[in-house]
Amino acid sequence: MQETFKDVNGNVITFTTKKGAFFKEPQHVLVICRYNDQWLLTKHPQRGLEFPGGKREGKERIQDTAKREVFEETGGIVSKLRFIGEYEVKLETESFIKSVFFASVDRLEDKKDYLETEGPVLLQSLPSDFSGKEFSFIMKDRVVELSLKEIKNIMEPVKKVGES
Ligand code: GTP
Repeated sequence: MQETFKDVNGNVITFTTKKGAFFKEPQHVLVICRYNDQWLLTKHPQRGLEFPGGKREGKERIQDTAKREVFEETGGIVSKLRFIGEYEVKLETESFIKSVFFASVDRLEDKKDYLETEGPVLLQSLPSDFSGKEFSFIMKDRVVELSLKEIKNIMEPVKKVGES
């Protein structure tokens, strides 16, 4: 599945569920997290509520970037990480690729410092759209919507033949 659309800032975004589709290594991550049957987000002081994420440091594996960012921004310890997709953000003079992961978080460690964020925020359910001003612009384009659709497919128990 691949879709191209504009984000709230007018940048062109291409989202795909195919790994390596952009012929360019992802240097950023967005991590959709579940903890205790809830969605785990972080609160950025300027942007608002968003799933944790950030930039790759040095030569770390992109999966390690995802785990590190979840811990830094929420205190969450990731027990399972699944690839969901990748998206390209095309700015005027450059473009970059972000990997989207789905993370199961085992434990939330209480920390004094969550780096640039205000720490973890747990939501029982997610709204049908993220247009509210409490949500970050990162949540407002089709990336999160399409990723959540993929996650729903993964989370739904496999139906047996003949079951409706
Ligand atoms: P630093 O993190 O300090 O480098 O700040 P920055 O905002 O310049 O970082 P970054 O290179 O991550 O982002 C540059 C621009 O890309 C942002 O201002 C956004 O317009 C856009 N951008 C970054 N991440 C996303 C994303 O996940 N979704 C969308 N739609 N745009 C993004």
